[in-house]
Amino acid sequence: MCGIVGYIGKKQAAPVLLDGLEKLEYRGYDSAGMAVYDGKQINIKKATGRLKVLNELTHGGELLPGTVGIGHTRWATHGEPSDVNAHPHFNADRTIAVVHNGIIENYLKLKNTLIERGYKFLSETDTEVVAHLLDYYYKKCKNPLEAITKVMHRVEGSYALGILFSDEPDVVYSVRKDSPLIVGKGKDGNLIASDVPAVLKYTREVYFIENEEIARLSEDTIEFFNVDGETIEKEPKMIEWDINAAEKGGYEHFMLKEMYEQPKTVRDTLNPRIKDGRIVIDELGMTDEEIRAIKKIHIVACGSAYHTGVTNKYIFEGMARIPVEVDVASEFRYRNPILEEGTLVIIISQSGETADTLAALRLAKERGIMTLGIVNVVGSSIAREADKVMYTWAGPEIAVATTKAYSAQLIAQYLLAIKFAEVRGTISAEQVAGYITDLKKLPDQIEMLLNNKEKIQRFANRYIAAKDVFFIGRGIDYAISLEGSLKLKEISYIHSEAYAAGELKHGTISLIEDGTLVASVVTQPDLYKKTISNIVEVRTRGAFVLAITNEENTEIEKAADYVIYIPQTNPYFTNSLAIIPLQLFGYYVAVGKGCDVDKPRNLAKSVTVE
Ligand code: G6P
Repeated sequence: MCGIVGYIGKKQAAPVLLDGLEKLEYRGYDSAGMAVYDGKQINIKKATGRLKVLNELTHGGELLPGTVGIGHTRWATHGEPSDVNAHPHFNADRTIAVVHNGIIENYLKLKNTLIERGYKFLSETDTEVVAHLLDYYYKKCKNPLEAITKVMHRVEGSYALGILFSDEPDVVYSVRKDSPLIVGKGKDGNLIASDVPAVLKYTREVYFIENEEIARLSEDTIEFFNVDGETIEKEPKMIEWDINAAEKGGYEHFMLKEMYEQPKTVRDTLNPRIKDGRIVIDELGMTDEEIRAIKKIHIVACGSAYHTGVTNKYIFEGMARIPVEVDVASEFRYRNPILEEGTLVIIISQSGETADTLAALRLAKERGIMTLGIVNVVGSSIAREADKVMYTWAGPEIAVATTKAYSAQLIAQYLLAIKFAEVRGTISAEQVAGYITDLKKLPDQIEMLLNNKEKIQRFANRYIAAKDVFFIGRGIDYAISLEGSLKLKEISYIHSEAYAAGELKHGTISLIEDGTLVASVVTQPDLYKKTISNIVEVRTRGAFVLAITNEENTEIEKAADYVIYIPQTNPYFTNSLAIIPLQLFGYYVAVGKGCDVDKPRNLAKSVTVE
């Protein structure tokens, strides 16, 4: 997703911008650019491809003199990735430069009106509309702030903007609606950015800009205004993240580092919520009465977060006997869901900014339904807008393919399910104690699986040339298969699919040929026999079968070709363990193929367009 950085201060701006943009690379992008005011005029440099290209083009920023600038990494939405479509965009006189994250939904209408007024467009982007529209209003009112508010009234959609006016050269403007943006208050200058890691090197004091707020930064002042141009007061927040947490720390890839952080992530998400042998989720502020009144749960999310919801449908229903529907957010928001009184909508998102997930949250709120966000990024849109928030304490996740945030999302939902079940009296005090004992063992068990990675690594090396891989499982094992399959395909580009094990024979089994890899997940004791039958079905048709199963299930050696065991835990929690070898499998296949593991092609870490 696009990244924005802006700087105004004592230092040369371009190197600061490049450095900040680098910290936002994880968001995914296809081109980059910078605009810097050099004392006389605004100069722009932009380039398709990695930041390295822009870095070389500007000699590390040296060729762009000046201490006021804005920078951008673009993930194409309107118009292909190209130098001309890359941001920043100018007005015709080159006196206004704009970087933008989000989508201007009514850009075509605005563009046509502007063309009628004589404006000429160079790019295919929706962003250029903003540059010309600012020009149009600025020429009328001669006041940058007023021009910005006028533009805000005209554009529809989502935007975070960084803006320079050469007529007011000692100022960086910034504004947002439905796209993230923060302001950092530094010692040697102030910054704007799409996300905190971009400013951490310079400051820990950060303002979160809310929807339709404008920030005006000079070297030593930061002012905020509302959409009517009236001054508003805001309090900064201190960011506690360790800067090292955003660096690779000795691992070959962020993804591997983040996989190894999972024991800690699970501990951090779990421990503060277990007090004196009881589950305490105070931050929700939910009364027992409210919990008892829940008649139905909708879990809504995208990608891997959705997969954690699929897992936890089994757990909420099994433990707390509450009916659960799980939806991908892009479907939920347009299917006019039936949301009756007594429904709880659980929204799961690592970034807290995924556009469809945020829209689903807003839909539920509009209907007067209680919303609960499980979010990793503090201060993100979903965290701010959900009625109740439960944070996953995974820290910043850099690799596009999620691992540790996924694991933390599972834990948060296990805790919720146990809590709900306990309050509703569907499980006994002994069961709660047993679940807590098992949960507390998970971090060490995950660590053990990570430390025994060689077996799955060796296996992965044999499948670098695979064309198709199928993942099968039943119940929670099906949910694990969904994530195992996604991990493999998103980073190794090998086609893979996950199936409920009993469903494969209804068509897809025709794809099984001699040597096709089928990864089976078999961790639910009451379903062992059923899944083993499905393993036999594919194996007799030539498949090579990998099985991920519990230590006790040695029977499986008779049916599968290669077995990875996970330590004993409650069947509800096996996802947290079985996913580890599957993450490692995807990772080592991708490494073996020489793929860009941390930044897979075509993907973005945070998808802030629908
Ligand atoms: C993107 C990421 C996935 C993630 C999904 C949802 O597709 O690549 O890893 O699961 O978005 O993101 P969220 O931040 O809402 O959890």
